[in-house]
Amino acid sequence: MLNFELYNPTKMVFGKGQIEKLSELVPQGAKILLAYGGGSIFNNGIHQQVIDNLKGFEIVEFGGIEPNPHFETLMKAVDVIKEQNIDFILAVGGGSVIDGVKFISAAVHFDGNPIDILQKHILIKENAMPFGTILTLPATGSEMNSGYVVTIKATQEKLASGGSALFPQFSICDPTVIQSLPKRQLQNGVVDAFTHVMEQYLTYPHEGYLQDRIAEGILQTLIEVGPKVVENPADYALASNFMWSCTMALNGLIQKGVPNDWATHMIGHELTALYGIDHARTLAIIGPNLYRVLFETKKEKLAQYGKRIFNLSGTVDEIANEAINKTVEFFHTMGMDTKLSQYTDDYNKTADFIVNRFDERGWKAMGERQNITLEKLKEIVEMSY
Ligand code: NZQ
Ligand code: ZN
Repeated sequence: MLNFELYNPTKMVFGKGQIEKLSELVPQGAKILLAYGGGSIFNNGIHQQVIDNLKGFEIVEFGGIEPNPHFETLMKAVDVIKEQNIDFILAVGGGSVIDGVKFISAAVHFDGNPIDILQKHILIKENAMPFGTILTLPATGSEMNSGYVVTIKATQEKLASGGSALFPQFSICDPTVIQSLPKRQLQNGVVDAFTHVMEQYLTYPHEGYLQDRIAEGILQTLIEVGPKVVENPADYALASNFMWSCTMALNGLIQKGVPNDWATHMIGHELTALYGIDHARTLAIIGPNLYRVLFETKKEKLAQYGKRIFNLSGTVDEIANEAINKTVEFFHTMGMDTKLSQYTDDYNKTADFIVNRFDERGWKAMGERQNITLEKLKEIVEMSY
C-alpha cells in the first residue's frame, strides 16, 4: 500500500430531524451568511427549518448561487461578507452551493486577486472563513471534503481547486430532504457518486485490498439502491444509504494509499463548461469511453470489477469488456444518455477544443499512469460523440 496522510475535520451530523441541532453547531454569537441556490429551499421548507433553528443569530441571506456556481456570483457574496462583517457562512444546498461557499470562504481573506485561486490552482491552507453545510442533494461528497469546482463565466472555464482549510466545520445530512428532488437530480447523484468511486478504484491492481473492498461496497450499494431511490425517495432506508454512499464515495477515505485517475472528471468539466450538460451526465458520456481507450492498462482492474460487482466470468479481456458494457447499462438504467450527440448538435469540434485547452494548461499526461496523452484524449472525446 502507498503511504498516506488522512485528515478530515468535518463533523458529520447524519439522520432524520438533525437540522434541529443547527444552533448548537454554529459558533455562538456568530453573524451568519446564509447561502443558497435558486430557491428550492423555500419550496421544500428547509429555509423555514433553518430560520426556526437559528433564533437569536443575526443572519444575512445570499441566494442565487447557480448550478455549476459562477465566480462572478460568488464574488458578490464576498463583498456582502466584507460590508456586513459576517464571521460564519452556512451553505444550504447541493454541491454547487457548498462548492460556491468553499470558494467564498477562500476568497474573503485572500491576499491578491481571487481569480488566481482558480486559474493558478492555489490551495488554501489557512485564513479561510469558517463555514458549515446543510446538504440537500446527495451526489458530490462536497459536504465532507475540501475540494470545489467553480466556473468562470467570462472565460467559460470550469476549474477545480481546494485546500485543507476548506473542509466544512460540520455538515447536517438529513436523508428526508431528498424527497423534493426532481428525478433527474436523483439520477445525477447516483451516477456522480458511482463515478467518484470509479476514479479512485478503476486503475490497476495494487495492495490497497481494504480500499478496494470499501470501494466495491459503495458501488454495490449504489447499484442496489440507485434505481429504487429514484422511484421512491421517501423510503428512508433507500434515502439514507444513497446519501451516505455519496458522502463515502468522496470524503477522502477510499483514495488513500491507492492510485487515482480523475481524468473522466477533468474531461467532463469541459463538457459542462461548453454545453451546460449536468455534471453527472458528462461523466456517463466520458467514463466508459475512457475505459475503452485505456483498455490495455485498465483491463486487470476492469476484470476484478466485472467479477466482484457483476459476477462475470471468462477471460480477463472478455470480463473487462463486458464490465464496461454493464457499466453503460447501469447508466442507462439511471436515466443517462451516454453520447454527446444526444445533448448537443454542435459536437464536431469538441475534441479539438478540449485538446487545445489541455495543451495550453499543460495537462498532457493525465490518469493514474500519466498515460492519457493529448492523442488519447482526442480518441476518448471523439469516441463519445
Ligand atoms: O439551486 P436550487 O434551487 O437549490 O436547486 C438545485 C439545483 O437546481 C436543485 N436542488 C438541490 N437540492 C434540492 C434541489 N431541488 C429540490 N429539492 C432539493 N432538496 O438541484 C439542482 C442541482 O444542484 P447542484 O448543487 O448543482 O447539484 P450537485 O449537488 O450535483 O452539484 C454539482 C456541482 O458540484 C460539482 C460539480 O462540478 C457541479 O458544479 N462537484 C463538486 C465536487 C466536490 N466538491 O468534491 C465533486 C464532483 O465531482 C463535482 O465536480
Ligand atoms: Zn463528480
